[in-house]
Amino acid sequence: MIKTDFIRSVSWENNHVVILDQQKLPHTTEFLHLKEIKSVWESIHSLKVRGAPAIGIAAAFGLALWAKTFTGNSTKEFRAGLRAERDYLASARPTAVNLFWALDRVVNVVNLAETVEQAKEIVINEALLIQKEDEEVCRRIGEHGLSLLNTGDTVLTHCNAGGIATARYGTALAPFYLAKEQGIDLSVYATETRPVLQGARLTAWELQRIGVNVTLITDNMAAHVLKNKNISAVIVGTDRVAANGDVANKIGTLGLAVIAKAFNIPFYVASPLSTIDLNVLTGEDIPIEERAEEEITHWNGERVAAENINIYNPAFDVTPHHFVTGIITEKGIVTGDLQQGLTRVKTL
Ligand code: MRU
Repeated sequence: MIKTDFIRSVSWENNHVVILDQQKLPHTTEFLHLKEIKSVWESIHSLKVRGAPAIGIAAAFGLALWAKTFTGNSTKEFRAGLRAERDYLASARPTAVNLFWALDRVVNVVNLAETVEQAKEIVINEALLIQKEDEEVCRRIGEHGLSLLNTGDTVLTHCNAGGIATARYGTALAPFYLAKEQGIDLSVYATETRPVLQGARLTAWELQRIGVNVTLITDNMAAHVLKNKNISAVIVGTDRVAANGDVANKIGTLGLAVIAKAFNIPFYVASPLSTIDLNVLTGEDIPIEERAEEEITHWNGERVAAENINIYNPAFDVTPHHFVTGIITEKGIVTGDLQQGLTRVKTL
């Protein structure tokens, strides 16, 4: 088995949070040592740590940072403080449900604590467990995803749903890590992913590092590539899947799904169960983050757009379920009636 090289994007080291600054990639590999909860909030908000599962893991470690500094001896006060910090970190970004899922998991498990010392230990252990489980989950998503592909296939992906967006392996990129380990040759077209270029800066870099044959295209080349380049499938990640199978993912995903359908190319979404939000009935109810105008008006810190132009900058879009061929989860691939299938895998 070929071992694929890997960089952990979030970790808990010597009682603080260490993150790979994804805004500096690919040219600079810099790790930031976060010692205060507000630096965790800022890192999530500014996309230094990004990708749904990685955001959740970082936030859970953020709660551990806060727990460490708690000096009282009342578990009631500890819980109240933890809930307030949960709400603070939850305000960093609105779309990826893993943020809220991970924070709530930590907050809820603390109910078992009888002393503050126990509560502190429970917080850090739960955060570490969330990370460990995500690694296993992503590997299983990779195995299921790979079962859809054959040697020589070419896949198109969007944004970055790779190892650095999760604990390891990624979701949409997990099949390529596993293919590499097993000596199976696959090729990938990566869209650059405007406006902040997660495809160009992160996906192309990440796949190149592990030796996958990757070709970078601009977003507006996707239709041409899907029509002419013998693409076997589109595989993307997701920030939140609604109960009916509607999928929120990086802006531009909807366009790819529509084009894939037009050319009869299967469109798969790789999603851990933690990203499936059965509380949200349809994609209409998923909050879509709108980001700073500068992401569009500026290039490399310099203004390119004329002054006083109206800007609309949604970071995500929602692909209606009827464009989705299947959802690749750690418990298998959901196809057909997505609503029924998602409820089933969530309760397995
Ligand atoms: O704004 P980002 O970079 O956090 O958006 C990330 C995505 O849209 C990913 O595709 C999604 O979170 C899945 S990551 C495994």
